Amino acid sequence: MANTILVGAQWGDEGKGKIIDVLTAEANIVVRSQGGNNAGHTVIHRGTKYILHLIPSGILRRGKICVIGNGVVIDPIALNAEIEGLRKLGITVGKNLLISNCAHLVLPYHRVLDEQRELRKGVARIGTTKRGIGPAYGDKAARTGLRISDLIQPRVFSKKLQAKVRENNSILQALGAKPINFRKVNESYLAAGETLRPFVANTVVYLHEALQRGKEILFEGAQGTFLDLDHGTYPYVTSSNTTAGGACTGSGVPPHRMDLVMGVMKAYTTRVGEGALPTEDASLAAMLHKMGREFGATTGRARRCGWFDAVATRYATMINGIDELAITNLDGLDSVDPIRVCVAYRLNGKRLKVPPCDAAQLQTCDPIYEEVPGWKSSTQSARKLSDLPRAARDYVNFISKLTGARLKMVSVGPARGQTIVF
Ligand code: IMP
Ligand code: MG
Repeated sequence: MANTILVGAQWGDEGKGKIIDVLTAEANIVVRSQGGNNAGHTVIHRGTKYILHLIPSGILRRGKICVIGNGVVIDPIALNAEIEGLRKLGITVGKNLLISNCAHLVLPYHRVLDEQRELRKGVARIGTTKRGIGPAYGDKAARTGLRISDLIQPRVFSKKLQAKVRENNSILQALGAKPINFRKVNESYLAAGETLRPFVANTVVYLHEALQRGKEILFEGAQGTFLDLDHGTYPYVTSSNTTAGGACTGSGVPPHRMDLVMGVMKAYTTRVGEGALPTEDASLAAMLHKMGREFGATTGRARRCGWFDAVATRYATMINGIDELAITNLDGLDSVDPIRVCVAYRLNGKRLKVPPCDAAQLQTCDPIYEEVPGWKSSTQSARKLSDLPRAARDYVNFISKLTGARLKMVSVGPARGQTIVF
């Protein structure tokens, strides 16, 4: 395997966790380079369901090194809870996990600010995961954030935290929210820092040395292309670069060391949170929810669902430079007939082949659909392309062609084995 960047080609929740798990078999190192515990990657491993938020899914496989890169924002209490949770399930977390000393911290005032901003926005809210992600990245960009390297120097940390709590408490007060107790936060964060200390490293140097030794790295993207801070449906986005470039800035591995970009996309479209979803369809959502599918792994929220949007995935292919595609959740469409595919948008009488930059314009885009026949049978036990019904094969080929990248994998269920690889 080459050094591979894996990205979501839609609005997140494309099933990246499972594809990463499949790809990890061939990789030596798995890196998370952006986002925080807003992410929720579901992986079924030996019959047990794991939901990972901050730790790369590679942790479930023996002998793989997992790196949380400099571009990630870390809530140290949540990270410790995740480590503990994995250990309780028998997963080893020790020398196989490295945390960047440059990664920024999510602090309790970030979470309260996230909540307060959402509350104040009312109907214009983003629908965040309320994990404090936006305010934490905001502090990073404003150059007032605290980092892992601060956390493991108790005196430095306490001093910086005290000033930050003071500043944020005056903001919280103005918003009518409860102030943060410095002592409590200081104590719990320093304790969390002590637990995390053994994992902390200069991960940039580690990755470069690993590359020199010929190790192969898998970059595990979180969220999806249209939640990217620059390229997504702003302002209904997350606060990091979820697209391929984020893997470079968030890990310190330069672009020319990346060999391949794989894009993951569902056979239909989902989105959790607010913002435009041009192909949204209430009856498709009702059907998927009735099957017990499409509930958020982090917040439990029911995801919004719609038809496959090739305008979006084609754009995602361009921005990320997607070489190969993995189509997931094909089995979600097993009973649907006919199936609609959005091939273009209509905006003010004009036919668009790329999504408009403006959120309000995207909101008024009407999808132009093509209809294709469904297959009305289970695809869940298919293990090779020829096991799929003809209509399902035609469907995956059709949406790959529209998207413009080579089809590499089709996933027909949550288990590792329920994967067709080309
Ligand atoms: P935030 O990242 O919590 O600030 O949320 C911003 C937007 O991104 C909201 O619409 C969230 O629902 C969405 N979001 C954040 N993380 C994920 C994810 O891992 N999967 C899907 N949507 C996400
Ligand atoms: Mg998810």
